[in-house]
Amino acid sequence: MSQTPGDGKHRAQWASSLGFILAAAGSAVGLGNIWKFPGKAYNGGGASFIIIYIIIVAVIGTTAMLAEFVIGRNTQKNAVGAFRQLNKKFSWVGGLGVFTGFLIFGYYSQVGGWVIYYIVSYIVCPGRIFADPKLFFYEMLGQNGFPWLGAIICPLIFMGLVIFVITKGVEVGIEKINKILMPSLFVLLIILTIRSVTLPGAAEGLHYLLTPDFSKLNFNTVLMALGQAFFSLSLGMGIMVTYGSYLKKEENLVKNVGLICTLDTIVALMAGFMIIPAVFATGVEPGMGGGFAFVSLAGVFEKMPGGPIFGCMFYLLLFFAALTSAISIMEGTVAYVTEEKKMSRKKATAIIGVLTFIIGIFYTLSQLYASIKGIWFDFANGVTFPAFGDFLEFLTDRLLTPLGSLTFCIFVGWVWTTKKGIAEVERDGTYTFKLKKIWSVLVKFIAPLAILTILIGGMVFGLALS
Ligand code: PFF
Repeated sequence: MSQTPGDGKHRAQWASSLGFILAAAGSAVGLGNIWKFPGKAYNGGGASFIIIYIIIVAVIGTTAMLAEFVIGRNTQKNAVGAFRQLNKKFSWVGGLGVFTGFLIFGYYSQVGGWVIYYIVSYIVCPGRIFADPKLFFYEMLGQNGFPWLGAIICPLIFMGLVIFVITKGVEVGIEKINKILMPSLFVLLIILTIRSVTLPGAAEGLHYLLTPDFSKLNFNTVLMALGQAFFSLSLGMGIMVTYGSYLKKEENLVKNVGLICTLDTIVALMAGFMIIPAVFATGVEPGMGGGFAFVSLAGVFEKMPGGPIFGCMFYLLLFFAALTSAISIMEGTVAYVTEEKKMSRKKATAIIGVLTFIIGIFYTLSQLYASIKGIWFDFANGVTFPAFGDFLEFLTDRLLTPLGSLTFCIFVGWVWTTKKGIAEVERDGTYTFKLKKIWSVLVKFIAPLAILTILIGGMVFGLALS
């Protein structure tokens, strides 16, 4: 039996190296890879965006991920406990990450619920989706009444699955499910990519993705790639601190970081090669986000031979990606509550589940109001507020996650010091960290500067970063 956090003296640990890599990759591979990356690659000039993205992941993403892992593995604690142990004054840094995860979980599980709705709908009534994709989506969101399915029943099923896995613990729950879902995700991705690139007319999309268009490369696209890399690698929320805290001391952290970042990037690239050729072949306008994944893509599946089957497979792929990411997000918060508040794992998941579910309902309701009425609140005096859902995404994806990563890097670089970080990697000479000098410079100067640029760019210039 695995030991779970907060259950006494023994702390949970990954049973195998592969289990950990798949779980961390499962966290990283999420909705961000499958519906955000292809749209950004398209808008950012195809291959030129992809080249910049890969450089950013290789240089800055790996740096920040290693910073999270060294903190977690060194302290063997949840995000808040880890920072508290290393420097009492900085426990708020971990708290910020846990808070962000709490907020993200609310809407991530709503979208996860919508994905379940679409898997079933592509089996049961694909004709209804194809007849009017927009209407079908809005009906799920509750255009004709309260969104029982979109906001309550389907998200509850999704959240129930996440809670079930979390209550089983790290080894029996999280590790096992990732060992099943991640290989399945790869198989689905390969099938769908082959289907897409073999469609008549797909060559144009392939050409677009493989030819760099440097005229589209500017400050904005670089910032977009940076923001996408941080979100996609699950950085800035202390998730990698928590997952790293379940690692055995003899694990090679640098190798694991390399593998996880590579897997995440391969999935993002494959998603690009799955979506862009298909949209070129079927003449659908490429895009990103929920509107594209739930509405526009219906046009692709409608025109594709075997469309409903491939549609169902696509949403199954999204479901696996969303589930493994949602599990990691909830685990970050649960580890904090069980360890710091000394609550049982079951009680912690129940409380967090209820609270985040309430936030989630408002997210879906606000999507409904925003998409149909264009606003969230409209007072008689003309004062309007932007959609709560958009605000939540802005707050978490553009503000809190980069802020989290920034504080983590500054903490490791300047407060705890890179010397201790390097010692944690090298484990008293068990490993040689060949790039330690470069990593020190990156974590102290380059990564914080890059993140600060995303933050300021996103806030002051209002650039499209998410
Ligand atoms: N990396 C996930 C994605 O690409 O969808 C999202 C995510 C998961 C962000 C976990 C942050 C996190 F801690």
